[in-house]
Formats: sequence, C-alpha cells, structure tokens
Amino acid sequence: MAIFLDTGSLDDIKTYHKMGIIRGVTTNPTILLKCGVTGGMDAIKERTLEIATLIKPYPLSVEVTSNDPEEMIRQGREFAEWSDNINVKITIHGPQGETENLEVIHELETVHDVRVNVTAMMSAQQCLLAALAGATYVSLFGGRVNNMGYDSRVEIEKIREVFECLGIKSQIIIGSTREILNIFEWLLAGAHIVTVTPNLLKGMIVHPYSKETVQMFLDDAAKGMC
Ligand code: E4P
Repeated sequence: MAIFLDTGSLDDIKTYHKMGIIRGVTTNPTILLKCGVTGGMDAIKERTLEIATLIKPYPLSVEVTSNDPEEMIRQGREFAEWSDNINVKITIHGPQGETENLEVIHELETVHDVRVNVTAMMSAQQCLLAALAGATYVSLFGGRVNNMGYDSRVEIEKIREVFECLGIKSQIIIGSTREILNIFEWLLAGAHIVTVTPNLLKGMIVHPYSKETVQMFLDDAAKGMC
C-alpha cells in the first residue's frame, strides 16, 4: 500500500498515477474546495467519479458533508454505489463531540457493506475504537498531532502494536503530512499507508544533487559525441 495521494486535483493524480507510485487517493471537503470543486453534491460526484475511474482498482476516500447520522448513512451508501473503489470518510465524532458517528461507522460497515475510513483522529485510543466499530481504514492526522506538541510516531507505534496484538485488520493511514521526513518516519513507526500531498511527493523525487549529477552525465555525453 504505502503511499496514497491527498488531493482532489485530477492533474496531480494523473501525473503520479502514471508513474505507478501511488496506491490510492484521499480527499476531504477542505481539499476539494481548495481544488476548485464547488457546486454542491453534483460537483463532488463529478470529481469523485473522474478520480475513481482514473485510479481503479485503487481506493478513493470521499468524506460525507453532514454530521446528521441519517444523512451520513444515506450519503455513505450513495457514494459507495458510485464506484466499487470508493470508501467513505466519517469523522470519529461530530463538531461538539457527538459520539453517534461510531454507530454510523458500524452500521455502514456491517449492515450496508460500505468500506469506511474513519477520519480526523488525533490519538491511538480513537483509532482503536474506530477499528473495533469495524472501520476498514483508520486515519490519524499525524501533522496535527505534532502541532499539538505530541510525537505522532508514539501514537502510530501504539496503534500498530495494539492492532497486531488483537488481530485487528483495519489499515492504518497517517495523514496531515507537513514535511517529507514524515513519510518515512510514519511508515517506519507502523503506518500501513501515508497519504501525501502532491508537493511533498514531488519533493521526495527531486534531489538537487541528482540534478547536478544528471547534468554532468548529459554534458559529458555531449562532449563524447564530438
Ligand atoms: C487525510 O486523509 C486528510 O485528508 C488530511 O491529510 C488532513 O490533513 P490537514 O491536517 O492538512 O488538513
């Protein structure tokens, strides 16, 4: 699995998908808005279908736009019908700490056979409960954890260890990447997947010393042609 792309930009997804280096895509309402997806559910559906078709069979996560339990279930079922590689993002709880979200996660997974990515999590304990509710993916926001003054790697190690101990099959996604360093440190700490922004992915590929070395090869190749 390793790397998902955290974006709603079709151009960026095309670029990195063609290289064969991404294994899925994650979005959320903020990312879609930044990528110019406005115009309500019709626009979300259009962009979602474009991405899902492009990366098939790799998974695409799409987040519901409401925190009303019935509406979350309705949207979750609808999104999953758009394409069989779509999984549905549900936040661990509502903006006021509403805990019914766990019931929604459980119902979508066990009654409606919808794969759920539980999102906006900041601790190992939240991830454990999301997994116990049946989530296919649990998403910890590593960059935000670090921003609060905690070491996200410690949370990731705890999540992986408890999942291994208890035989939990949920896949651990770490998002909210802030630095290129995060990708390796989170994978080595136990993440199954790190979801990466396009600019950080480009930064993983391009190295100034590689540029200089390639230029030396090209210059010498040209001299050898004389
Ligand atoms: C993960 O799936 C989220 O889309 C994302 O990484 C959130 O990151 P942010 O902290 O940059 O909003």
